[in-house]
Amino acid sequence: MSEMKKTFYVTTPIYYVNDVPHIGHAYCTVGADAMARFKRMDGYEVWFLTGTDEHGQKIEKTAKEQGITPKELADRVVERFKEAWKKLGISNDDFIRTTEERHKAPAREFFKRVLDKGYIYQGEYEGWYCLPDEKFLLDSEVVDGKCPDCGRTVERIKEHNYFFAMSKFQKQLEKHLDENLDFIQPDTRKNELVNNFIKPGLADVSITRNSVQWGIPAPVPEKTVLYVWFDALLNYITALGWPNGEMYKKFWKGEGVERHETINLIGKDILRFHATIWPTMLMAAGEPLPQRVFGTGYINKDGKKMSKSLGNVVDPFDLVEKFGPDALRYYLLREIPFGLDGNYTDAAFELRFNGDLANDLGNLVHRSLTMLEKYFDGTIPQSGPEGNLEAELRSIAISYAPQARQTMVTFDFPTTLSSAWDLVKRANKYIEESAPWKVAKEGEAGKEKLATIMFSLMESLRVTAIAIAPFMPFTASAIWKQLGYSDDVHHHSLQETESWGKILVGQKIAKGQPLFPRIEKEKK
Ligand code: MSP
Repeated sequence: MSEMKKTFYVTTPIYYVNDVPHIGHAYCTVGADAMARFKRMDGYEVWFLTGTDEHGQKIEKTAKEQGITPKELADRVVERFKEAWKKLGISNDDFIRTTEERHKAPAREFFKRVLDKGYIYQGEYEGWYCLPDEKFLLDSEVVDGKCPDCGRTVERIKEHNYFFAMSKFQKQLEKHLDENLDFIQPDTRKNELVNNFIKPGLADVSITRNSVQWGIPAPVPEKTVLYVWFDALLNYITALGWPNGEMYKKFWKGEGVERHETINLIGKDILRFHATIWPTMLMAAGEPLPQRVFGTGYINKDGKKMSKSLGNVVDPFDLVEKFGPDALRYYLLREIPFGLDGNYTDAAFELRFNGDLANDLGNLVHRSLTMLEKYFDGTIPQSGPEGNLEAELRSIAISYAPQARQTMVTFDFPTTLSSAWDLVKRANKYIEESAPWKVAKEGEAGKEKLATIMFSLMESLRVTAIAIAPFMPFTASAIWKQLGYSDDVHHHSLQETESWGKILVGQKIAKGQPLFPRIEKEKK
């Protein structure tokens, strides 16, 4: 019998190439990455997709301003995204660009199918358009000529377009929401969205733009291109080879799989597209919906919205340069509940860095390995009988995995990391309580006790390295290497944290530099 697998498909939004990556993009991508890595370590077959949204009026306009073609702009900026994700240790399995043929052809085919089913018709669009958001707005939504979401000036457009009959799916979408309570998450955002945009009635939407050149030509007689959101949303399935690709069948439809999960991870500002147009497009084409659409909050700087005009945009790569990728990853995941709005402040970053990373984790690793070098010449000794303190340490270590599996269901990264830190903190306390330096003074009489302490500490580090691997991949690898392993920690499983005593007796450690030297004034 062939092995039945559990599959997990997670996506980030595809980012516009009119601008370079910023901390908001990094936030969503790091969250998706932590989840993808966690699921891989928990035995799922994972597919993690990210990419770039390269068509539309905004890109067309930006390219014009820069005196280059839209494709040249996209080719230039896409490299910045790829480079950024590499620096941050993003483990995406695929990267889709909407200008690729593998996306364009199926996107046209999708349009055609919906057209053939009678859900697309021609009409005149006369109304407002928010260019920065690439969004059509109703008269009632526009306040003083400004977009209700981003506050920027909207423009009046009049075009002969093709419309998607979204209103026909009102009942079906409401039914879907009633039957699939976690389709839109988190709940707070769902309620707002349902009450403001779904219950009042879905309006038909323009899905072509005849005043824009830069887009996928629509499969219709007139010269017109697909509306950028219709084009972009399809990336989640074109990348899997919709309609007949094996990956599509396996990861999106769950064919031949014991259990499958599909999640579109996005920011709250684009939840509306993902909870209205996206599911109804899929309904119209007769395709399954993603199981969950999760909207994260916004990151603000010192309590204010980040914007170029305010000059308060945090450059994630500045932080990576100074403090390393894992410090930024840790901060983003530990400090801000995923789903709520969060805040970046230098003070909070420094507090997490000097506290959780330098004092707690960095110290634990460095002190433990230094003592092992000193007392056992860097070789992991056989443990003697376990006392109460060791039993307590063990019980904290083995309870990490079940707790994490539970808290990760709702993308609760702060609680998951705090569970991992329970072990880190307990191990530091264990050093104080068991006082190996005193035991060492007992000479031969204390040898077995000393060995037990050192073994327990190395074991705590082994569990810690695996536990933090999805969140801090570089640090986990560094700890693993320092413990003397020559393989890759990322090939190990979460399950291995559930049994105590797996560290190899006789293994020689390879202590390195302290992992997180404290932030001193001049570094800032
Ligand atoms: N191209 C569309 C998405 C298409 S998905 C089919 C888009 N791109 S974007 O580059 O403008 O934004 C991508 C994501 O970044 C959005 O989900 C948005 O919420 C997120 N963020 C942008 N600024 C942000 C913060 N300051 N904080 C958190 N996320 C933010 O929209």
